Amino acid sequence: MDVIRVKGGNPLTGDVSVGGAKNSALKLMAVALLGEGRSVVSNVPRITDIAIMAEVLRRLGCAVTLDGTEAVIDVPLEPGAEADYDLVRRLRASICVLGPLLARRGYVRVALPGGDMIGSRGLDMHVSGLARMGAEISNEHGFVIASAPAGLRGTKIWLDFPSVGATENLLMAAVLAKGVTEIDNAAREPEIVDICEMLTAMGARIHGAGTSTLIIEGVDGPLKPVRHTTIGDRIVGGTWAYGAAMTRGDVTVHGVRPEFLDIALDKLVAAGATVDPGDNSFRVRMTERPKHVDIVTLPFPGFATDLLPMALGLAAVAEGSSLITENIFDGRFMFVNEMVRLGADIRTDGHHAVVNGRERLSGAPVRATDIRAGAGLVIAGLCADGVTEVGEVHHIDRGYPDFVADLARLGVEVERTDVPEPTFDF
Ligand code: EPU
Repeated sequence: MDVIRVKGGNPLTGDVSVGGAKNSALKLMAVALLGEGRSVVSNVPRITDIAIMAEVLRRLGCAVTLDGTEAVIDVPLEPGAEADYDLVRRLRASICVLGPLLARRGYVRVALPGGDMIGSRGLDMHVSGLARMGAEISNEHGFVIASAPAGLRGTKIWLDFPSVGATENLLMAAVLAKGVTEIDNAAREPEIVDICEMLTAMGARIHGAGTSTLIIEGVDGPLKPVRHTTIGDRIVGGTWAYGAAMTRGDVTVHGVRPEFLDIALDKLVAAGATVDPGDNSFRVRMTERPKHVDIVTLPFPGFATDLLPMALGLAAVAEGSSLITENIFDGRFMFVNEMVRLGADIRTDGHHAVVNGRERLSGAPVRATDIRAGAGLVIAGLCADGVTEVGEVHHIDRGYPDFVADLARLGVEVERTDVPEPTFDF
């Protein structure tokens, strides 16, 4: 079992480069299914999730090669229509093949991913939106099965909540539907805009990308394959920004547009940091102990839920009390007990957490419960006395390609080692 050990007390200082956004690249690979022939998605992060997505596409009959940060995807005229549980359970995001395959094949059978450590994670909006477009949908033996033999038809869809995944699935289905689809209360995340840009380059007709109303005029498929570059990972960039502020360091983040992190960076300014935005880069400096800030997570352009562990970490070492509110995932506070093991003073009630900042945390063994909690615990360990050992780091590997090497380059004492699991004989 691999663990990451960090010694607290040193600031993060220097330059760090951030690669492509996981949550964009995974979906851009699914977008490729809408074109026949070779699409290339570049600036993909070198993480396990991308390798799993490549395998999902291979099992659908595509030839996929991952070469450095490029995914080369050859899509046949008739891709397969099934995604099995053994892959979907490893990569929840593989549910995003539902929309494009239904649009291409008129039939699709995708395993239901189930919940995970950050929450229950429903699919009702994906399903009801596709049903409004004329699909017949059932849930059998752990699979969602959808068919639209005569093709999908454009319609008006209101989402109860601007779900990222539902917006993506409905968007990818609508580009080949007959007529016009309007998705209201659509998600506005930069990753959705990235997907719209790739789709548009492939010949789709989409208006309103980045707004809460998406209008899609259906075209005859398949679309034409393209080459597309993934946007930078704003969550990885935000992790470094919060790490710089919490450790009273000075970090310049390259490869991410600061406007994708407007509120998150503004909160750092409120906490006392100096933030200098650049062109696809930004610098965060902090000299004093952070001041308390209240933070509320919301869909984009609100404060990203994926940065909640970093917000809690900042509050845990800030002067005074902060109120942190989570509005997206019901299980996001699962990792708070691990933060408490590091000496953080946090009380949760429902979707609120009251955090009384402490001058220093106290190093301890803890374990990552999800990608972002894992990164947040490592960063919190940098503000702790002694050594913090974070276990179950396979979670961190899913979202942060070179985390330990980047930390070392930013000047902190860090190592990754394999600790054998103890065995207990009966
Ligand atoms: N929801 C429903 N019904 C639906 C769809 C969503 O109830 O039909 C609920 C979910 O249960 C959740 C909330 O709505 O409570 C938000 O879900 P959303 O669909 O917006 O999220 P997602 O598409 O499942 C993506 C990212 C997450 C990120 C969220 C929010 C990917 C692969 N995942 O998830 O990223 O937190 O959007 O921004 O794109 C991560 O990278 O660590 C991560 C969890």
